[in-house]
Amino acid sequence: MSDDLQKLHTYYREGDHQFQIAGGVEGITKLANDFYDQMEMLKESRRILHMHPTDLTISREKLARFLCGYMNGPELYEEKYGPLALGPAHSHLAIGSTEKDAWLLCMEKALEMQPYAQEFKEFMYMRLCTPASRIQNRP
Ligand code: HEM
Repeated sequence: MSDDLQKLHTYYREGDHQFQIAGGVEGITKLANDFYDQMEMLKESRRILHMHPTDLTISREKLARFLCGYMNGPELYEEKYGPLALGPAHSHLAIGSTEKDAWLLCMEKALEMQPYAQEFKEFMYMRLCTPASRIQNRP
């Protein structure tokens, strides 16, 4: 990684910069909705879509709230639903590399749809790869 990119990542990680650059609650809500729209559209994500409730309204809201806190903004998920540990929250689901890749594909496509700088999209994608890998509970 170049020095400039490293400096940019340091900036993203300071305070609530990520949350602000992602457009605050409004921008992150759009990201979560675009993510679930992709999940409903892509054939690669059909299996993970069917692991969700038929009505995705709450799933969309929960992901938006969770991502606000994850991006160092307000802990909106916790405020409404209490603390969340991602591993246990997914342990009832069979998530192998195919399911993880499908989730990340939806996120990659959703990030592409946002008015963010390319560097920020790549940073966000990279940040989400870590929890996605931890959630994977099957080969
Ligand atoms: C690795 C691939 C992933 C898959 C296949 C997956 C799948 C799912 C499914 C099926 C649900 C609904 C569970 C239910 O209603 O019983 C869910 C809930 C949720 N997921 Fe994921 N997920 C993945 C990764 C992630 C990541 C990386 C994040 C956050 C960065 C995340 C955040 C959430 C949140 C906040 C909820 C709601 C939890 C709750 O309140 O019960 N997921 N996920």
